[in-house]
Amino acid sequence: MRGRIIVVEDDVAFGRTLAATLAEEGYDAVPVTTPEQGIETIDAGPPPDVVLTDLRLKQADGLAFMERAREGDPDLPVLVMTAFGSIAGALDAVRRGAFHYLTKPFKLDEMLLYVEKAVFHRRLLMEHARLRRALPASDPTSELLGQGPAMQQLRALVARCAAAEAAVLVRGESGTGKELVARALHRASGRAGGPFVAVNCTAIPESLMESELFGYEQGAFTGAQRGRRGLVEDASGGTLFLDELGDMPLPLQGKLLRALQSGAVRRVGATREVKVDVRVVAATHRNLEDEVAAGRFREDLYWRLNVLVVRVPPLRERREDIPELAARFLARATPPGGSPPRVGREALALLAAHAWPGNVRELENAMTRAAVLCGSGEVHAADLDFLGGFTGSPLEEARRHLPTLASLQEEYIRHVLAHTGGNRTRAAQILGVDASTLYRRLGPARAEPTVD
Ligand SMILES: Nc1ncnc2c1ncn2[C@@H]1O[C@H](COP(=O)(O)OP(=O)(O)OP(=O)(O)O)[C@@H](O)[C@H]1O
Ligand SMILES: [Mg+2]
Repeated sequence: MRGRIIVVEDDVAFGRTLAATLAEEGYDAVPVTTPEQGIETIDAGPPPDVVLTDLRLKQADGLAFMERAREGDPDLPVLVMTAFGSIAGALDAVRRGAFHYLTKPFKLDEMLLYVEKAVFHRRLLMEHARLRRALPASDPTSELLGQGPAMQQLRALVARCAAAEAAVLVRGESGTGKELVARALHRASGRAGGPFVAVNCTAIPESLMESELFGYEQGAFTGAQRGRRGLVEDASGGTLFLDELGDMPLPLQGKLLRALQSGAVRRVGATREVKVDVRVVAATHRNLEDEVAAGRFREDLYWRLNVLVVRVPPLRERREDIPELAARFLARATPPGGSPPRVGREALALLAAHAWPGNVRELENAMTRAAVLCGSGEVHAADLDFLGGFTGSPLEEARRHLPTLASLQEEYIRHVLAHTGGNRTRAAQILGVDASTLYRRLGPARAEPTVD
């Protein structure tokens, strides 16, 4: 059966003709003459796929019938038939939810065409609804991996901030997942259906930044043959992600602040402003307080953006997530169909002890590399040799090379000294020894300048 069609037409003969034509094409067509009968037929079931109704029925208004029929089934397509000359009424019906209209007199082929379209539309909507129900309700923050307490808290915070309209500032070291957080904020927000526009403030040369962000008018500068809208306008209705905001040049910061305050942008070379509706998420690995103190970041912009702050912790502060992340990244690096390598015990100890200055990105890269290097079902410590190169931690070195206590001690002192920038008094404090002990341990005083 091609579909069930209810035909409401008070001209009995015409109604029968329509139903007969539909039946010939394989539809289950039910002709009725009043809206009441139409509703009764719908309520008795089976539910129709399409309703074809006259708009000017003798006893009742076709529009009221249409609305009543769609009450219990908002996706029900209704085709309305109108007399020639009442297009206005037909358009009104379409505005109020009719699928389309047919102006009498019409050819039966035309009617068949619209019925076929309406049935197709109906089936698509039903299939779409079915697929949506079948999908697990996906959590927009689920891409942020990590089952440890820090990441659980972070996901909960992201979900709460997403619901707000205020700007969000995402802070964290390089590679901690700030961009991933920004995308999750967008997907979990009411703007998820709108655009997510990422702007990397480091990547755009200062001279181009204003026109990139705010757009330009035709003839605004040499080469501007046509005007173009900027990234802020592109993000309207969605989220504008300002990555590395700490690197935005001062003059642009002022223009950005003005745009945020007024909710409007002025294209380069334009006299008028254009309204924009954007939610700003900014990220930076810089310490913005230091930048403000140094005069490189506008304090008013800082306060404007510092409303909701999401701090993404470095990987070394959430080492409990390392095994899970490592396994997921190894799985990602394995071609489809293959089985990902396991992480051996020693290798895992190495991962757990590493300092991860490059955070999750470094771990991801390390696992991609290890998946290639290991060439077997297991990642061994030797496959992670390259990590040693930039650990900077004597303790990690010790795990592999087993040096003597004396050499380890000296190395550790040097490590702390490097940390304090050569300040021996600070180093001694950190090490919990007095300065003279420190000199003695380091051997005869060298011609090293002290910074005290
Ligand atoms: N919690 C996480 N779960 C899964 N993958 C992550 C997580 N955090 C980061 N990553 C991955 O690590 C890489 C770096 O993340 P991202 O680009 O978001 O970091 P970032 O903080 O923006 O870094 P940068 O400051 O260098 O721009 C990406 O490939 C990202 O998918
Ligand atoms: Mg980033």
